[in-house]
Amino acid sequence: MAAELPIGTLLESSDGAHAHVLARKLNRHTFWCGQSGSGKTYALGVLLEQVMLETELPLVILDPNSDFVRLGEMRAGADRASADELRSRDVRVLGRNGDHDLRVQFTNLPLKSKAAVAQIDPILDADEYNHLLRLEDEVHSIDDRDLVAHLRAKGSAVHDKLANRLENLGISEWDLWAWGGRNVGDHLDERADATVLDLGGFPTPAESRAAALAVLDHLWEHREERVGRLIVIDEAHNLCRPTRRPPSSGCSRNGSCRSPPRAASTDCGCCCRRSARRRCTSTPCRSATTSPSCG
Ligand SMILES: Nc1ncnc2c1ncn2[C@@H]1O[C@H](COP(=O)(O)OP(=O)(O)OP(=O)(O)O)[C@@H](O)[C@H]1O
Ligand SMILES: [Mg+2]
Repeated sequence: MAAELPIGTLLESSDGAHAHVLARKLNRHTFWCGQSGSGKTYALGVLLEQVMLETELPLVILDPNSDFVRLGEMRAGADRASADELRSRDVRVLGRNGDHDLRVQFTNLPLKSKAAVAQIDPILDADEYNHLLRLEDEVHSIDDRDLVAHLRAKGSAVHDKLANRLENLGISEWDLWAWGGRNVGDHLDERADATVLDLGGFPTPAESRAAALAVLDHLWEHREERVGRLIVIDEAHNLCRPTRRPPSSGCSRNGSCRSPPRAASTDCGCCCRRSARRRCTSTPCRSATTSPSCG
């Protein structure tokens, strides 16, 4: 592995000295920050090209804005030797418009991820969460397509509630689901030199987040295999929020905020940011007076 990957020139250098990233340091978490429009994504692209040129490290790129979908294509006038080397690498783009579909099997997701996708909180929605938990033993043998029917066939009020939730949130209709076809994990297991997960083409941000979650879940579940990979997350703040927001933190339809009580004048973590003293302004709550659970 080359020791130094050139990614540009040093600003303070009078003779255009190269700025380098040490390849061996990429086995640690690396945080790339700068103002909006300062060139983070562009510079990341330069680094990823260098990683592909100079190392054998497989890349898994979560690409929310479809910025890296042309990673495998060479621009006219590119250095011939570099272009030939990059062309020889196996770059796969998975997405709605990519070389391969980016699809996920809902029933295959870990319990916590199923709950997160369906916005089920283990405490606030204890009954539904518990029924989801109890379904875990049988859920792997159910085709995603049959899940709602399977829940309805159980004939209990809570199973019905779960089915309603999947339908009401539109989750049962998502394009993301594999419906028995190829799951994103199957692609990841083939360890291409670079796997670009194009999250930009989904109709809803929720689908895009669920796709990212499925990818990270898969990599985490296979961590014991100790396969070295560089996991790249552009716009990471959208996937890894600095504050925890419970899945069911939205306002319930009866007008009362469901977020747990917090100290006065802190952000209550609900769908609407507000001071505890102010009236809740989010749509379902608008008609309600200040909710006691919001302070
Ligand atoms: N070194 C560079 N050479 C030429 N153009 C550049 C360079 N760096 C950035 N740009 C251009 O500047 C614009 C902003 O860059 P980029 O999208 O990488 O910024 P960003 O920091 O990722 O922004 P955001 O925070 O909005 O995601 C783009 O049009 C990009 O092509
Ligand atoms: Mg960017």
